[in-house]
Amino acid sequence: MISSRRRGKGKCDSASCTRVAMAVLVAANLLLCFIFGFFHLQHVEAAQAIDFGELDFSKLYDPPPGMSTPELPNLARDAQSQMEAVQPTTRIWSLTNLRKEPEAVVSPSPPMALALRLASCPVCGNQILGQLPTPLKKRAISCEWKEVPNTFLSDLVGVVAPDRLSAAKDICTEFGSACGGVTCSRSQGSDAFGCTARASAEPRASPAREVSYIKDCKFLEADCDEEAVKTAASNPFAKDMRGTAIVILAHNREADLRNCLESLLSIPEAALFTLHVSLDDPVAFATMGATIQRVASAHAVHIHVWKIYEQKPGDDYNSEMQKWTKMNTGKIAHHYWQVFERAFMEEHFEQVIFAEEDLLFSPDFLALFRSTAGLLDQDPSLWCVSAWNDFGFKGTATDHCRLQRTSYFPGLGFLLPRSAWLKIREEWPAAPTMGWDYWMRVAFRTFGKECIVPEVSRSHHAAAKGSSVSTAKQLRLFDAMAFADIPSTCVATDSCNHFGNISYLMEQEYESWMRKVIEDAPRLKPSELRLQNGKPLLKKLPNIVHVVPFQREEYAGMAEGAGLLPRNTKGSIPQDLRSEHYGVIVVQELVHPQYCPSTGAMAPKVGRMVSQHVPLLLVDRRSPRGYLQEDEQLRLESDFEVIAGGQGQSCEDVCKQRRSSCDKNQLYFLNDCNLLRKHFACEAGCAHQVGKELPVYVPDSFQPTHRQCLLTFISPMTCEAKHPSTARLCACRVIAPAPTSQRI
Ligand SMILES: *[C@@H]1O[C@H](CO)[C@@H](O)[C@H](O)[C@H]1NC(C)=O
Repeated sequence: MISSRRRGKGKCDSASCTRVAMAVLVAANLLLCFIFGFFHLQHVEAAQAIDFGELDFSKLYDPPPGMSTPELPNLARDAQSQMEAVQPTTRIWSLTNLRKEPEAVVSPSPPMALALRLASCPVCGNQILGQLPTPLKKRAISCEWKEVPNTFLSDLVGVVAPDRLSAAKDICTEFGSACGGVTCSRSQGSDAFGCTARASAEPRASPAREVSYIKDCKFLEADCDEEAVKTAASNPFAKDMRGTAIVILAHNREADLRNCLESLLSIPEAALFTLHVSLDDPVAFATMGATIQRVASAHAVHIHVWKIYEQKPGDDYNSEMQKWTKMNTGKIAHHYWQVFERAFMEEHFEQVIFAEEDLLFSPDFLALFRSTAGLLDQDPSLWCVSAWNDFGFKGTATDHCRLQRTSYFPGLGFLLPRSAWLKIREEWPAAPTMGWDYWMRVAFRTFGKECIVPEVSRSHHAAAKGSSVSTAKQLRLFDAMAFADIPSTCVATDSCNHFGNISYLMEQEYESWMRKVIEDAPRLKPSELRLQNGKPLLKKLPNIVHVVPFQREEYAGMAEGAGLLPRNTKGSIPQDLRSEHYGVIVVQELVHPQYCPSTGAMAPKVGRMVSQHVPLLLVDRRSPRGYLQEDEQLRLESDFEVIAGGQGQSCEDVCKQRRSSCDKNQLYFLNDCNLLRKHFACEAGCAHQVGKELPVYVPDSFQPTHRQCLLTFISPMTCEAKHPSTARLCACRVIAPAPTSQRI
């Protein structure tokens, strides 16, 4: 039996696990963490000081005829005035990698040097690997497998159930040096099955006639050759974005705007785009304009300036709506409306990248859009590409190649096509009271559209002060966000393939891998994600996707354990399902092996990695896509009917009138604009709100949300709540018809 050969058995997976042994193990692990952490930091320091002279940077950026080479980034110059000697072709590196003085060069250890040499090549390839699809090259690793019949390898690695040979090999490759090979219970040539990854690479005689495959992996030093550059040029979704507009929305924060523009202009590809800054504070027009001018002339670029004036309330605005136009959310919503209208309706841009003054950008921020913009033309279910992953926290977002689809509009550096605006503008409410971004989210959800986002964000919040970013907790939250810093591999030609083969993002392919991985994955309960004394209650196996079926109401209790709420940030952002794809959230939960999993399969071993990832898919049991097994899913029960209540009524009242009863669990299915529209006029569109009586229609002409239908991304459902201004949408149990008298 396999189990008798498990690593670490008897050390910690049973009652024999003594306190003393645990204490020693934990101490040893902590010591190792400390030592490795220390060396790691040393290497990072060394890495930052490396001289990149051996790389051929001319391949990275090749200006098209007639286009001047942009200036060196100013930030780098300000910070390092002595570094004038940096050649223009090396500027890609200047912000992220050349922070140290040149004389501080230290020779890094060989693996680090290798990693850095490969960093100038595309890190994302054409092959899609892993349970969650990623074009991330296997750390430029090539593996060979030596078949040894009638043997087994000892010690299971991260395995749940025996699988096909190819799947077990994938897992084994993912585990790196912790996996020696694969053992299969029976072999039929390449169709071997019952295969599991094993730690040992020493085959032992198997009386059960198992067959083993010993792993032999090598780093591919030749990975950066011309061939790789050529394959990198073939991306059917790349788009020639020359002349595409980038619009930065700014208010009055000069320093932020300067940093934002410097960050953007430090990307050589910015020269391909038409740059705009839109200003909405007349008091600051002069000073902000001067700042823009200074940055523009320092970089020898032209930056168009748009001026947006205060909103004049419409004649039909009630007093509450007029008040709203003076508030920050009202002003920002007005700014976005004006900017969208100008960009798409007046200037007729086909696609525009929008960002705000308090953002900083990754070196491959523009490569993201250039590599993916064509997806929007080919997949009508996509309406945007955003640089921001709302759940892209350090530690839980690690794959620089993986892109995801989300039905939750993220904002913060996004590409929107004109075709989307033509639909959205028809529905834009007079007063999107919860903010333009929530209003966009409602529109995306209502129209069934999605955004492409990277697992690791390409934009980052910089401001300490902002309209919605103000508390220390929020700053901690933004600080906890991962921020990609790999250089762009794109040249200024039509084709940009920075993210490798992205065909997995097309709707049908994405749906089919998602269904497959959810079907196959082991399940966890939300309660198993909870932390106990700050530690996960572990039953999970690193690197294996686990599915957590959950209900909306359980989310707040599991967010922290899943790694979606960094320490000390509780309450800093609303608890909505950000980054979701129709109720599915992807997260790489961080796991510390010094906590013993109860299975014993991953018992700690001194010298092991300090931490590992458990890819989790949190799947809403009410997802309209029905990803889960039949008995895991929740649907609107067939003995409930949807009833529109009168103004001021609770759903309890509404159902009682019909001699029926309300069930709050059913109300979650009514939280939908399309359904509200079937029952109410919703003349002013649909919007998000927070409250106890949602979803509702607002007939009260005093409200700023007059004639809107309101649904919620956050609030839990209740039957008993009511509000004098609103009419609720309710779910009442269908009453069995009373026995009727005999037919006449
Ligand atoms: C891209 O990935 C798909 C699988 O998602 C695969 O079928 C296709 O062959 C790949 N394309 C290239 C050019 O390798």
